[in-house]
Amino acid sequence: MKQMTILQIDSSGRTTGSLSRQVGQMVTHRLLQENPNLIINYRDVAQGLPLIDEKWISANFTPFDQRDDQAKDVLGFSDKLVSELQQAKYIVIASPTYNFNIPAYLKAWVDLIARAKLTFEYTENGPVGLLKDKKAYLVIASGGVPIGSDADFVSQYLKHIMSFVGITDVKIIDATKIDLEELTQNNAEALVT
Ligand SMILES: Cc1cc2nc3c(=O)[nH]c(=O)nc-3n(C[C@H](O)[C@H](O)[C@H](O)COP(=O)(O)O)c2cc1C
Repeated sequence: MKQMTILQIDSSGRTTGSLSRQVGQMVTHRLLQENPNLIINYRDVAQGLPLIDEKWISANFTPFDQRDDQAKDVLGFSDKLVSELQQAKYIVIASPTYNFNIPAYLKAWVDLIARAKLTFEYTENGPVGLLKDKKAYLVIASGGVPIGSDADFVSQYLKHIMSFVGITDVKIIDATKIDLEELTQNNAEALVT
């Protein structure tokens, strides 16, 4: 069995001064403190991700056993992102609010991990998520839109996507309410409980 992980995903376009990155990192390290048997798997989607295109969609809609080498190759990176999710016990997604929504690279990540028969499946009763026994922490930063308000499509959307792939244990952390000067590894406990 593969080693379980804490999957930390950053998506802010800023690498310095980013609230979501700093709070997300604190959440991850606190989780690691409480779960020393896990390892961190880090992915910074702001460094760039491919967008799904005609070749990708065609390969994805080809049944597993009919995919040729080219189709398998096209789906390779998406498969890797899916396996990162499957291996995660905890998923920490740090997202800024860009124009009322998640950054485009984080949406690219969502497009690459939402895979029928891998992370969800269609049933008579509609789609069902296939990921089990995971908890997600959604660390959201905004400039003015109050987190949890009707205009906060970021937490609504990410929560919906998590549930869509089977992750219903979700905690939303409003990064704008965290005092970074006060926050240390030792008092970060409240973030993860
Ligand atoms: C391109 C861009 C668009 C933004 N759009 C919004 C917005 O629609 N609503 C909002 O409340 N804040 C908006 N902001 C502010 C950011 O959400 C805020 O600065 C947040 O702290 C960014 O996350 P970070 O600190 O992790 O980089 C925007 C910032 C940028 C750079």
